[in-house]
Amino acid sequence: MHFNIITLFPEFFDGPLNCGLLQRARELGLISFSFLNPRDQTDDARRTVDDRPYGGGPGMVMMPKPLSLTLQSLGFAPHSEEGPGPLILLTAAGRPLTQQKAGRLALDSENPCLTLICGRYEGIDARIEELFPAETVSIGDFVLNGGEAAALCLIETVARLRPGFMGHAESGVEESFSSGLLEYPQYTRPEIFEGLAVPKTLLCGDHKRISVWRRQASLCATLEKRPELLPAALRESVDSEFILSLPETKLGRNLNCALVHYPVLDREENSSASSLTNLDIHDIARSSCSYGLGAFYVLSPLADQRELLRDILRYWTKGRGARSNPDRAKALALVREGKDIAEARADLEKVSGHKALLVATSARNSGASLPGINFAEIAEELRKRPVLLLFGTGHGLAPEALELCDASAPPLRPVNGYNHLSVRAAAAIMFDRILNDWR
Ligand SMILES: C[S@@+](CC[C@H](N)C(=O)[O-])C[C@H]1O[C@@H](n2cnc3c(N)ncnc32)[C@H](O)[C@@H]1O
Repeated sequence: MHFNIITLFPEFFDGPLNCGLLQRARELGLISFSFLNPRDQTDDARRTVDDRPYGGGPGMVMMPKPLSLTLQSLGFAPHSEEGPGPLILLTAAGRPLTQQKAGRLALDSENPCLTLICGRYEGIDARIEELFPAETVSIGDFVLNGGEAAALCLIETVARLRPGFMGHAESGVEESFSSGLLEYPQYTRPEIFEGLAVPKTLLCGDHKRISVWRRQASLCATLEKRPELLPAALRESVDSEFILSLPETKLGRNLNCALVHYPVLDREENSSASSLTNLDIHDIARSSCSYGLGAFYVLSPLADQRELLRDILRYWTKGRGARSNPDRAKALALVREGKDIAEARADLEKVSGHKALLVATSARNSGASLPGINFAEIAEELRKRPVLLLFGTGHGLAPEALELCDASAPPLRPVNGYNHLSVRAAAAIMFDRILNDWR
């Protein structure tokens, strides 16, 4: 595999490419490098490669001509796909470098040739990208002085996937990201260090048990540090079962919600009582069940409304509805009937044995008299005690309801000009923002 590196600072690469496995791979002829300095394509005495940006602003920009001539010297042609192989522009504005991308670059052809353009100053004249279609690559959401350090990251991660680069071919297979998960923790001698012992399973010699332990440790590490990777990486139902058994994913059980029908605001902003809506009860119960909530309270002081609720629940949890749709029965089994907020709080505290935190929700900042609590803070509270999220029907929770709360959650989409979500949609979005565990 060959790398053409276009850089104003070829000396940057002297150390890193001449030690360890990269040096060994060079000696074995597995990888090779050419360095091309755009300054060699200038014709003025000062060998100028940069100039001030059009439109003003700080810093300098790399001029297009020296870069264009450098690329042409390698066989790339302007306005065409022609060239010795993939062309990569390292830029903070590029697409993220991932293990998958490295694998594709390393293994796309038998003897690939990658050309890397390292920017400097404020970057390079944008016309280079138009003339020579390049793949843009960023190594992270931060800004470096130049593309050389980014190019090194790319070279190292791509080269080590080439056949023969690593001693044991399987080393690359078991690493972070190869399975879509972060790697499990590794240990070596001594068995006990500073009082800390190596996990017993790793010493048992039973390869099947060790492999299960490692898969589970990978799942835990990914859940803790990069939960957004999990959905794509879960292989079998045993993975999901294991994840669901972890305390982290049990946080949902400390989250509870209540649909308040009194006191809520009517159209004239007066406190009043609203009627039950079948759709809200079904949909919030389904969201509560999907997110593993502890309970969903439906609160109304009106006896006929509670009677209606009992009818609905009876039909769907015990009657014909339950027989024809057992999934719905499971969701509606989470519903608890109650007269008012105080009753829901008392029930929750009795069941959990802990003082509950009552959090008001609103589409407006009507809970401004209460201390604010953001979604991440609510998630933190769930580690210590139950939280009851209160959703108002009608035009939202009335001031008397807010007075009973401890804090208020931020409104959803407050700067959109329109944020009139249905209460069932708002509930689902808030559950997801709070639990935030399977992004
Ligand atoms: C000082 S930076 C220019 C930053 C540029 N003005 C911006 O705001 O994106 C100079 C060069 O460093 C390289 N660079 C900086 N950060 C990078 C990153 N996160 N990934 C890849 N290359 C990066 C690019 O080649 C860039 O042209």
